[in-house]
Parts: sequence; structure tokens; C-alpha cells
Amino acid sequence: MRKLTLIAMAIALTSTISLAGEPSHQYVGASVCAMCHRTPKNGEQFQKWQASKHSQAMKVLSSPEALKIAKEKGLKGAPSESPECLQCHETAYDAPASQLGPRFNKEDGVQCETCHGPGKDYMKMDIMKNQKLAVANGLVLLSVKDGSAEKLCVTCHNKKSPTFKGFDFKTMWPQIAHPVPAN
Ligand code: HEC
Ligand code: HEC
Ligand code: HEC
Ligand code: HEC
Repeated sequence: MRKLTLIAMAIALTSTISLAGEPSHQYVGASVCAMCHRTPKNGEQFQKWQASKHSQAMKVLSSPEALKIAKEKGLKGAPSESPECLQCHETAYDAPASQLGPRFNKEDGVQCETCHGPGKDYMKMDIMKNQKLAVANGLVLLSVKDGSAEKLCVTCHNKKSPTFKGFDFKTMWPQIAHPVPAN
């Protein structure tokens, strides 16, 4: 009896821990990051993202072109509900509902947290201001300089994309860059 309870507890525990062994943080959604990342002083990251195609990545899955691709591929369901498409077009496409915050909106496509990691635990002001603490709370550090940015891009911008036309980081990055202005 006791042994069984322990096994059940171990299973319950591991299911809340991600493969990397880190506890799974909640996704809050781009509109929550916007609270602080829409001011000119911070660099208007939210508006830049909104103006980019990444914010439209779910809408595009309902376009006639998407339906045509899905038909050619013999997909059973709608592209906007198929993991074959969602894996690159939606944030947290395979996360359990419990990992999605109340303001998280799947329709927002490729959001901040696709690239920066689920933000519930690092988005508090005192944590955000301390990079080490932010990373300990789920922030994924990215950099153009060390190549980690490009590595991330090509997890989606590759030949597995049915519409792939090539990917040149040097011309693609400036289209979505969102730096904090030097003061
Ligand atoms: C309460 C305000 C606030 C919220 C909400 C917030 N941030 Fe931040 N964030 C900041 C501030 C302020 C900085 C700049 C820290 C500094 O001064 O270096 C920052 C910095 C960052 C950085 C740069 C980190 C580094 O050290 O390189 C990233 C990336 C980031 N935020 C992403 C996000 C994402 C994604 C969300 C939503 C999940 C979010 N932030 C929500 C205030 C916030
Ligand atoms: C497609 C991936 C991607 C998306 C989507 C994205 N970012 Fe970033 N972000 C990056 C990369 C890569 C960097 C590192 C840039 C560098 O090295 O200059 C970065 C850097 C930042 C920084 C630090 C900038 C600086 O100058 O220090 C902040 C703040 C930030 N992002 C916030 C956000 C917020 C808020 C959103 C959503 C509104 C967002 N990002 C969406 C990839 C992304
Ligand atoms: C999670 C998957 C994913 C990642 C990671 C990702 N992208 Fe994208 N990207 C997309 C999708 C999907 C679209 C198409 C959206 C649409 O057409 O509405 C897109 C479109 C774009 C576009 C517009 C292309 C056009 O034809 O106008 C640019 C530019 C871009 N991405 C740059 C980047 C860069 C730079 C990175 C890395 C820092 C990156 N992306 C990372 C999925 C991703
Ligand atoms: C490996 C990642 C990936 C997968 C899987 C994927 N896409 Fe995309 N999709 C992208 C990227 C990246 C773009 C931006 C244009 C490009 O380089 O392909 C994009 C763009 C699009 C566009 C806009 C076309 C354009 O020219 O702007 C449509 C429509 C689309 N995808 C439909 C689909 C459908 C339907 C599926 C599922 C059958 C799918 N995608 C699966 C990554 C992916």
C-alpha cells in the first residue's frame, strides 16, 4: 500500500516537471508582457511584435493558401487545429491547459514567450531587472552575437515549413528586431 502511494506521488511529481528537470512555468501571453514592453523608453517591443508576421501566424492558418496546403498533405483536420502546423505557428501548442494563464491567447501566434520562455515567474519587476534571477525563473537568454538567436529561428524557418523559401538571418532579423534603446 505504502509503496503504491509513493509511486503515485512520484508520478504526480514528475508530471509537473519538464523534460529538462525544471518546474514548468506558466505562459501569460503577449498582452501581459505589453504592460511594461510597450513604452518608448523600453523600446515598444509589443508594438513591433504586433506589426510583425509572427503575430499573424495563427490567422494565416485559416487562409485559402493554408487550406490548400493541408489538402495536398492529406491532413484530416483544419490546419489551425493540426499539430503538424501548430508546432511552428502557435505558442505552447502542446502545453497542458494548466500551463496557460487567463490572458494567454492562442490566436496570437508566435508570441514573446515562444522565444523568451514562459513568463509567469520572471515577469515581476524586481526579477526582470536581475538577469540571473530572471533566468532562474524561466527567462531564456538569447543573443544575436553568440548565434543563439539564429539557432532558434531555424527551428521553424527550415525545409519542414511547406512554404519555405530560404532563411537569411542577416536580412530577416532586422525585420523583427526590438532593442531596448540606449539612453
Ligand atoms: C512589470 C514589468 C515587466 C513585465 C510585465 C515584463 N517585463 Fe520584461 N523587462 C522589464 C524591464 C524593466 C526590463 C529591463 C531590465 C533592465 O533594466 O535590464 C525587462 C527586460 C526584459 C528582457 C531582456 C532581459 C535580459 O536581461 O536580456 C526580456 C527578453 C524581457 N524583458 C521579456 C519579457 C517577456 C517575454 C515578458 C512577458 C512574459 C515580460 N518581459 C514582461 C519589465 C517587464
Ligand atoms: C522570434 C523570436 C522572438 C520573439 C517573438 C520576441 N523576441 Fe524578444 N528577442 C529575441 C532575440 C533573438 C533577442 C536578442 C537580441 C539581441 O541579441 O540583440 C531578443 C531581445 C529582447 C529584449 C532585449 C533587447 C535589448 O536590447 O536588450 C527584450 C526586452 C525583448 N526581446 C522582449 C520581447 C517581447 C516583450 C516580445 C513580445 C512582445 C518579444 N521580445 C518577442 C527574439 C524574440
Ligand atoms: C516557433 C516558430 C518560429 C520561430 C522560432 C521563428 N519564426 Fe519567424 N515566422 C514563423 C512563422 C510561422 C512565420 C509566418 C507567419 C505569417 O506568415 O503570418 C514567420 C515569419 C517570419 C518573418 C516574415 C517573413 C515574411 O515572409 O515576410 C520574419 C522576418 C521572421 N519570421 C523572422 C524570424 C527570426 C529572425 C527568427 C529568430 C530570431 C524567427 N523568425 C523565429 C515562425 C517562427
Ligand atoms: C517547421 C515549421 C513549420 C511548419 C511545420 C509549418 N509551417 Fe507554415 N510557416 C512557417 C514559416 C517559418 C513561415 C514563413 C515563411 C516560410 O519561410 O516558410 C510559414 C508560413 C506559412 C504560410 C504563409 C505563407 C507565406 O508565404 O507567407 C502559410 C499559409 C503556412 N505557413 C501554412 C502552413 C500549414 C497549412 C502548415 C501545416 C500543414 C504549416 N504551415 C506548417 C513554418 C512552419
